[in-house]
Amino acid sequence: CLSMLPVLYTLGSTIYLIFLRLMNCEQFDMVFIVVAEQSLINYYSLIICSNMLKMNGVICLQNKTNPAKSSDKDETVAMKMTDIINADPRVEQVSAVPLSFKIGSQTCPRDPQPGITTDGVFWGYKRRCILDRLRLDCKVAYVTGGGQGIGRAFVHALGEAGAKVAIIDIALEKAQAVAKELEVNGIKSVAMAADVSKAEDVKRIVDSIVANWGRIDIACNNAGINMNSASEDTTLEEWDKTFNVSLRGLFMCCRIMLSQGYGKIINTASMASLIVPHPQKQLAYNTSKAGVVKLTQTPGPEWIDRGVRVSCISPGIVDTPLIHTDALKPLVQRWSNNIPAGRLARVTDLQAAVVYLASEVSDYMTGHNLVI
Ligand SMILES: NC(=O)c1ccc[n+]([C@@H]2O[C@H](COP(=O)([O-])OP(=O)(O)OC[C@H]3O[C@@H](n4cnc5c(N)ncnc54)[C@H](O)[C@@H]3O)[C@@H](O)[C@H]2O)c1
Repeated sequence: CLSMLPVLYTLGSTIYLIFLRLMNCEQFDMVFIVVAEQSLINYYSLIICSNMLKMNGVICLQNKTNPAKSSDKDETVAMKMTDIINADPRVEQVSAVPLSFKIGSQTCPRDPQPGITTDGVFWGYKRRCILDRLRLDCKVAYVTGGGQGIGRAFVHALGEAGAKVAIIDIALEKAQAVAKELEVNGIKSVAMAADVSKAEDVKRIVDSIVANWGRIDIACNNAGINMNSASEDTTLEEWDKTFNVSLRGLFMCCRIMLSQGYGKIINTASMASLIVPHPQKQLAYNTSKAGVVKLTQTPGPEWIDRGVRVSCISPGIVDTPLIHTDALKPLVQRWSNNIPAGRLARVTDLQAAVVYLASEVSDYMTGHNLVI
């Protein structure tokens, strides 16, 4: 996109920008506005109002076309424009800086001194520093139950790290609302409706993602339900429903991953897989989550030599709509008293873990149950 910019200017950039927007092109990281541009303000408004700049993107406003030739008029236009941008609450800060571009990472050490060990630790593994290795650029991910709560936070985290994300939820409108959030942040996503307890729904979404994006690198099997019944009251129907959402269809993505020779499966289990949370009653939930851990630990070692890793995350009690029922709300204080940090987890407390497990930095581990 950046290499297109000079062409855009010479050919009447406004029309081109509208065209690009209509063609649904990706958003820009940076927009450079030359002061010679006619109707600068309209041009700036178009970029901001039609959401063409990524969140945290940069607008560079040229101060002078050519210092030797620039007129007072150019300078006045630039100053006026700077004032307008400064007053725009959607834009964070405007600074005047001498312009120079440098391409390449600044974070890896570059100049070894004699006597310094220059191995992968020094240079960064494959010459990539640790934060670059956590990036998920060009990866394709899906998150089930991505329409709210933990799944929504996972969707954002994977997208922020660079992945394209399919947001899958039984409630399409929730998935669509999250897709809208991602669009605002300049992240590519798609919202899809599916009931993960139905094998045919899972097959449909897997086929559709592969048809559109070519592969699945990261599969977050996160959807889960908790119907909170005492052991003696748990019906077979509740048992089947809970198990079907947690455990069925979990591995529909594995075939494509095994054929790709690469993939990361990240299941959401729960601390209920390891302990029995108290005092709420949830036999089917606890047992199904223990099943999720076994469904992680068993294929993990089986598939690691074929490039597919399987992990799960076991959060403690997280403040999401799942626990906002009349029965559970009064227990929050009691739980908090028993939690070392003295509070429930926030969904944002879990986001780095999913990026870690999805990225290449965790390639050596598999079958792990990461308790948070
Ligand atoms: N909230 C907690 O305290 C907590 C703790 C540990 C583990 N977990 C687990 O984390 C996961 C997410 O929990 P949450 O708190 O975000 O839940 P939530 O109820 O807030 O969100 C779950 C999402 O999954 C969707 N969903 C439900 N059934 C589905 C189905 N059959 N197919 C597709 N989508 C479906 C819902 O529409 C909803 O958007 C669950 O597996 C849950 O068991 C939650």
